Amino acid sequence: MDKNTFKRLIFVIIFVVIVVAVILIIQNTNKTEKALKELGYSEEDITVIVEKLSETDIEKILNMEYNQKLASIINAKYYIPDNLDRYLAYSPKTDNIDDIISIVNVGADSEWYTNTEETNLDDGIKMLVNKFHYLKEDYSPDDIVPISNWYAYEGHSTKKEVYDHYISMWNDANELGLVLLVNSSYRTFEEQQEQYDMSNDDYASRPGFSEHQTGLALDIVADGVQGNEFENTDEFKWLQENAYKYGFILRYPKGKEHITGYNYESWHYRYVGKELAAKVKESGLTYDEYYAYYCEYKKAC
Ligand code: DAL
Ligand code: ZN
Repeated sequence: MDKNTFKRLIFVIIFVVIVVAVILIIQNTNKTEKALKELGYSEEDITVIVEKLSETDIEKILNMEYNQKLASIINAKYYIPDNLDRYLAYSPKTDNIDDIISIVNVGADSEWYTNTEETNLDDGIKMLVNKFHYLKEDYSPDDIVPISNWYAYEGHSTKKEVYDHYISMWNDANELGLVLLVNSSYRTFEEQQEQYDMSNDDYASRPGFSEHQTGLALDIVADGVQGNEFENTDEFKWLQENAYKYGFILRYPKGKEHITGYNYESWHYRYVGKELAAKVKESGLTYDEYYAYYCEYKKAC
């Protein structure tokens, strides 16, 4: 065989291999599409499923009953592939797709305070503490400084970085005639136990599960108001618009009780730093949701 004939032969072999591979892929896709159609999925659903799911996940779907919500779940903005099984398991509980995604992403498809894990302390000011992420009993933050009575009720303290930003926020609010007051701040594990004993799971964290133990949370009120009366004050309205500029986010917003696990608290602000606070506010997500999607899954927060 001369050199040219050999070259031609190689070329023909490669060509045949490519053609056979393409035919097999098409046949396989057609087989998958046919099987999905037989299960009840529409053409539109099938396009989404084939485009976005891995082969393993498609195999899984083929071994399950038709799920009307599947395509919407996969297409949701905060879909996390690893959570697919749990989204599907949770899907009969609500028709609200965003809720299915959020509840599963934050772990609230499990009972509160089950499947808990230790907070990642390496996250620093971004650390997540909630009903599924805890601090050990002996965890105490460094850099805790007292808060002057000028800015708070008697006997409060917080991390130095939080204090500096709180004062800056306090001064800007005060120039407009507003007076912010801290009425709860850093709490030890033992102090949280006392709070919890006086309250209940809707309002107080169990010891170890409170952001107050991080030294990064402040309860901010206006003089003379009780509980959520605070939301009717100009101080609250100003914080709604401006707290993020100083690194603070409202941690337990109204309407998100099923995500945070707590009743609405217009007074509880969490310091996460200016950059992250702006992103969290812009997203409209609770910190639990933001952390699950951006910090944990995307590794970008
Ligand atoms: N009140 C909030 C949830 C706490 O106890 O940390
Ligand atoms: Zn609080």
